[in-house]
Amino acid sequence: MPRPRPCSTSCRVVRGFVDIDGELAPAGEAKVSVFDRGFLYGDSAFEAMRTYGQRAFRQDDHLDRLFASCEQLRFGVPTGRAELERRIARAIEAMGGQECYLRLAVTRGSGPLGLDLAPAEQPRVLIYALELKLPDPRTYERGIVLGTAHDGRSVRAPGAKHSNYLASVLAFADVRARGGDDALLLGASGEVLEGATSNVFLVRGGRVVTPAVGAGLLSGITRKVVLELCEELGIHAREALVFPPELYGADEVFITSSIREVVPVVRVDDRGVGDGRPGPIAQRLLAAYRAATA
Ligand SMILES: Cc1ncc(COP(=O)(O)O)c(C=O)c1O
Repeated sequence: MPRPRPCSTSCRVVRGFVDIDGELAPAGEAKVSVFDRGFLYGDSAFEAMRTYGQRAFRQDDHLDRLFASCEQLRFGVPTGRAELERRIARAIEAMGGQECYLRLAVTRGSGPLGLDLAPAEQPRVLIYALELKLPDPRTYERGIVLGTAHDGRSVRAPGAKHSNYLASVLAFADVRARGGDDALLLGASGEVLEGATSNVFLVRGGRVVTPAVGAGLLSGITRKVVLELCEELGIHAREALVFPPELYGADEVFITSSIREVVPVVRVDDRGVGDGRPGPIAQRLLAAYRAATA
């Protein structure tokens, strides 16, 4: 019988470094067990952030959310916070002065097949410091098109940033096939929740509205910063239950995320938003956000 050939499962096209449980390796060489429950069941929590001047923006907020997500998923972070910060700093440094995309992930670790949590070994901590890929700058001048899609995600760990993104992956693919740029997820009663990897805001009569976290959406760090900026700039902002017709009839719509910052939306489904161009409040908030990261 021929001997099985060793197989390579790592990704050779991604540039950067990955720290796995304290061992830093070039991204193309980083590997975890096929029995890791993060891989088998999406049994893991994560954070995505980016550096500005080689420092992760709002790192403390992201670490708070990571620890809270792990608690909700019922596993601990095996390293202390100080050790995690040390590893993040080392991964950023390995990028040699280049700004980077940072992803932190904690999986329940490896274990035998089966859903039982008990036999899982020690949780595994991964830190990815990768080449930062940003939207084309014209995205901010032209705005993007959102397509609505019904949310099919699990509601068992509301608010946790867990890794079960399959429903969002498929919603995103459906919207792209319909010609949109990104998916906007709707809850069971058709209420607006959030983007596939972002939070959403609308502006009407100079006032900003965003769906309430209680509706079952991720409490985004960028969303929090934008709400703080609204307060500083004297822009009235509130959380509310939002339905798609309010987006269709809004003066402005925009989405927020740690990687994309504040992105104007010029169309939702087949309805133009406002005058079909990025609006002044989204532009003001983007400028203020960028100033805050400087
Ligand atoms: C579902 C979801 N909502 C919102 C966000 C935005 O969160 P943040 O501003 O913390 O990046 C993300 C980011 O990945 C996300 O995946």
